[in-house]
Amino acid sequence: MKILKICVGTCCHLLGSYELVDKLNEMDAQRLYDVKIELTTCINSCQSKSAQPPYAEFNGKIIENANIDKILNCITAT
Ligand code: FES
Repeated sequence: MKILKICVGTCCHLLGSYELVDKLNEMDAQRLYDVKIELTTCINSCQSKSAQPPYAEFNGKIIENANIDKILNCITAT
C-alpha cells in the first residue's frame, strides 16, 4: 500500500488542500486502488520564503503547489 499524505495545516488548507481531498475522494477508485490517503498537519515545507503550498507527500516525495495532475503523475510514475 502506497501512502499519499495531504497537508491540511493552515497554509495548505487556505490554499486548497481540502478541495484536493474532495477531488481525490470523488475519483474512480481504480486509479487509487493501492493508495491510502492520509491527512496530516503541517509537514514544515511551508516554512521557507519560496514555499508553494498546498503540499502533499507521496511515498516520501514532497509535492509542492499540489494539484490533482501533479499527484496523479507522481502516483503513476511509481
Ligand atoms: S501547512 Fe502544509 S506544509 Fe505547512
